[in-house]
Amino acid sequence: MIALRALTFALAGLGGLVPTHPALAQSADTLPGAKLYQAKCGTCHSLDANRIGPAHRGVFGRAAGSAAGYSYSPMLKASGIVWNAASLDQWLQGPQKMVKGSKMYFVVPGASDRAAIITYLKATSGK
Ligand code: HEC
Repeated sequence: MIALRALTFALAGLGGLVPTHPALAQSADTLPGAKLYQAKCGTCHSLDANRIGPAHRGVFGRAAGSAAGYSYSPMLKASGIVWNAASLDQWLQGPQKMVKGSKMYFVVPGASDRAAIITYLKATSGK
């Protein structure tokens, strides 16, 4: 009886050490696109903070140029683009071809890399 109580206590203690993440964030972190995102986009972007580029959480499904507090190029802000799988794929093949005057020049040449990164952006946007 005492041993059982001690065990219950120990397990409860362990439970407190396991970090609690929202289920979505946890599954997005395990996607192949998570590593690619860090490696390729992480120099300029993060999910939750505006850096050289705008914050990305929620970007999938939102209008281009609408991250709060980020100073976009006028051309991207006025583009009328809504970010979805097709528009993101086109953007990552040549942002300045898609939107003349955009401030982003980085290109992802590999179709499967683009697809993985887009899946990651979708998951971290809760879509
Ligand atoms: C060298 C810096 C740099 C890198 C690397 C970079 N970006 Fe960007 N990104 C920017 C900048 C700057 C903007 C703002 C463009 C503007 O205002 O015209 C931007 C804007 C964007 C937007 C538009 C967001 C919005 O809110 O409308 C998306 C989507 C995006 N980047 C995706 C990516 C992805 C995905 C990667 C990695 C594959 C990436 N970027 C890599 C600098 C970068």
